[in-house]
Amino acid sequence: MDVLMFSPGFPAEMPYFTRGLAEVGVRVWGLGDQPLPALPEVARHALSGYLRVPRLWDSKAVLHELRGWQEGPRTLDRIECLWEPGMMLAAELREALDLPGMRPHETLPFRDKGAMKEVLDRAGLRTPRYRRATNPREVEAAAEAIGFPLIIKPIAGAGSADTYRVGDAGELQTVLPRVRHVPEMSVEEFIEGEEYTYDTIGADGNLFYENVAWYRPKPLIARSVEWISPQTITLRDFAAPTLRPGIELGRSVLQALGFRTGFTHMEWFLKPDGEAIFGEIGARPPGARSVELMNYGCDIDVFRGWAEATCHGRFSQEVHRRYNAAVIFKRAQGEGRIQRIEGLESILGHFGPHITCVNLLPPGARRRNWKQTLISDGYIILRHPDLGVTLAMADRVGSHLRIQAG
Ligand SMILES: Nc1ncnc2c1ncn2[C@@H]1O[C@H](COP(=O)(O)OP(=O)(O)O)[C@@H](O)[C@H]1O
Ligand SMILES: [Mg+2]
Repeated sequence: MDVLMFSPGFPAEMPYFTRGLAEVGVRVWGLGDQPLPALPEVARHALSGYLRVPRLWDSKAVLHELRGWQEGPRTLDRIECLWEPGMMLAAELREALDLPGMRPHETLPFRDKGAMKEVLDRAGLRTPRYRRATNPREVEAAAEAIGFPLIIKPIAGAGSADTYRVGDAGELQTVLPRVRHVPEMSVEEFIEGEEYTYDTIGADGNLFYENVAWYRPKPLIARSVEWISPQTITLRDFAAPTLRPGIELGRSVLQALGFRTGFTHMEWFLKPDGEAIFGEIGARPPGARSVELMNYGCDIDVFRGWAEATCHGRFSQEVHRRYNAAVIFKRAQGEGRIQRIEGLESILGHFGPHITCVNLLPPGARRRNWKQTLISDGYIILRHPDLGVTLAMADRVGSHLRIQAG
């Protein structure tokens, strides 16, 4: 079997999915715009060949290069893409080459935050009330119809960019100039509640693996307040009654969207009264180390699990939920270069056996832009069978681990 992997070197998780494909016995061919030497070793090692294209986002040009690829595979059996901006391109390539997997019309409702809600509304599932808007007048009209508080966000957004909570008409006037560059907006009823994920791996419409993670705090807050150390926690107690409405919603969403094979990542709100409301969904895994959390939660290799499900229609690893696994992202204080890391020894001393990964920028490294990357200046991953203990440890890392820049 010959599988084309879109952008095997970027973002950070892609090399591991590429390796997963090689591990389940298929030949993996890479397509990307990075030069071959720039690919991480894990990815390079897994590839049978790599086609570097100068214009990765031009589907016609990519198709042309793919067809003329002399050293490439004689035929392709699949094209896989797990990176949000490439989903539509991969679907177009599949259509042009008549390959299995998601086509453009199936991909659109996973990309367009309006289209996805239209399909789900028709299926009778609970989504935030919303309207599309392409100019300030339409935003105002939408606000009138929906009422405050509301959310304004790009219809094809990611990472909470250009996303605002708007409390009243006065605030709306201050937000409008800030979103002028966004071609199309989704104006939505603001849903008050905790935010969770529902993530799956499946094949031919059968679900083999499901996961729920909890964002602490909600992403919009985590993305707007610098001193916060955001956490994602993969939950061990998948059967908890509070999560059931979200999991049922998630399964219905996949059915309504006709999803069959691969990875999905949905976000949903849990209202204080217990109701679950749809947030958004992608036909791809979550980023920001969430797949690693899934691995640590069950001691499995989800990268390989996805590859096996996608290529062979099965998931042979047994899933035992043993731990809650938490990642805590750290943002340095001060600007410039990292000067020192404080509190790490004490944290390792207290929680050492439960910490599975420490990945912090070393002193001397330049601080990252926390608005642009959730990874920020590094992270710690820890796990424990008990949720309360997991949260206490994660909070301690948030408050007592300090990265000082200057
Ligand atoms: N209707 C809504 N009600 C409340 N909060 C929302 C709503 N839509 C988005 N948000 C907040 O904004 C964040 C980003 O929105 P989301 O739709 O997940 O876009 P993306 O993650 O692609 O940027 C969400 O995680 C949530 O915190
Ligand atoms: Mg989101």
